[in-house]
Amino acid sequence: MNQLLSRYLTEKKQLIDDMLPTYIQRLSAPDILKEAMSYSLKAGGKRIRPILLFATLNAFNKSEKIGLDVAIALEMIHTYSLIHDDLPSMDDDDLRRGIPTNHKVFGEAIAVLAGDGLLTYCFEVMANCEDLPANIKIELISKLAKAAGPAGMVGGQVADLLGENKNLDVSELEYIHEHKTGKLLSFPIEAGAIIAGASLEQLNSLRQYAKHLGLAFQIKDDILDVEGTEEQIGKPVGSDTDNHKSTYPKLLTLAGAKEKCEEHLNEAKQYLSKANINSELLLEITNYIVNRDH
Ligand code: IPE
Ligand code: IPE
Ligand code: MG
Ligand code: MG
Ligand code: MG
Repeated sequence: MNQLLSRYLTEKKQLIDDMLPTYIQRLSAPDILKEAMSYSLKAGGKRIRPILLFATLNAFNKSEKIGLDVAIALEMIHTYSLIHDDLPSMDDDDLRRGIPTNHKVFGEAIAVLAGDGLLTYCFEVMANCEDLPANIKIELISKLAKAAGPAGMVGGQVADLLGENKNLDVSELEYIHEHKTGKLLSFPIEAGAIIAGASLEQLNSLRQYAKHLGLAFQIKDDILDVEGTEEQIGKPVGSDTDNHKSTYPKLLTLAGAKEKCEEHLNEAKQYLSKANINSELLLEITNYIVNRDH
């Protein structure tokens, strides 16, 4: 990874790591709930969704400060999706972000409620954001709800569960990946473009860029489930195999999955280059997403 990118990723991750606790501290809620919400937020993670938002704003020469509340909200809704994804009734995983999963520490009931808390608080943070005009906020809230909800992540998670023990074809698998992961990964790019006042043409190119980036991201996640180490990825290796999930490596072999990932990476780059923005940083992050080891 080049030094400039490495510094950018570290700096932005630090900003999110520093800001998140302040949003929980100000909540008036039972201590155990705040503790459970903080536990999973503080565990870290790459913070790639906030970083994509900041990098998109950067590509339009806009300050990241106007996107800070949206970035925080995004990390909250993403963390909720992870807490629920790990539950015994879902992927039944014991490790997340290098530490025991939320339900292992707080029990299932509090883990479900910590997820609920993060999901709802995310929209409170968005609605209360003082750095964006009301019309933009409403548009972003509507788009985030759609990306995370039944037509987005939640729908994808259902399809993922229904796909266990089945032999799906690539288009069915693409539906799962695009929804369970792609929609929430694409949102920050579209949000950044909307905040920055992108033209319709730019928005269309960036939407296509984000779609392929989201697919590449989840294919890479599937690959890491096979060839990563627990230390690197901070979650159990082989979880997909244990759960008989439909994944790209299972359907196309590891080599085929890598090829598919590369295809989406190249498509993503082509659309990015059409967006007519200052895209160097986004391009570096795009490469990083496919070359990452965690
Ligand atoms: C993991 O997301 C879940 C997926 C949607 C694939 P990340 O790989 O972004 O997880 P963190 O936030 O870095 O822990
Ligand atoms: C999860 O996909 C997507 C979410 C909505 C959280 P995975 O189940 O593959 O994510 P990991 O591998 O547990 O992070
Ligand atoms: Mg899952
Ligand atoms: Mg999982
Ligand atoms: Mg996975």
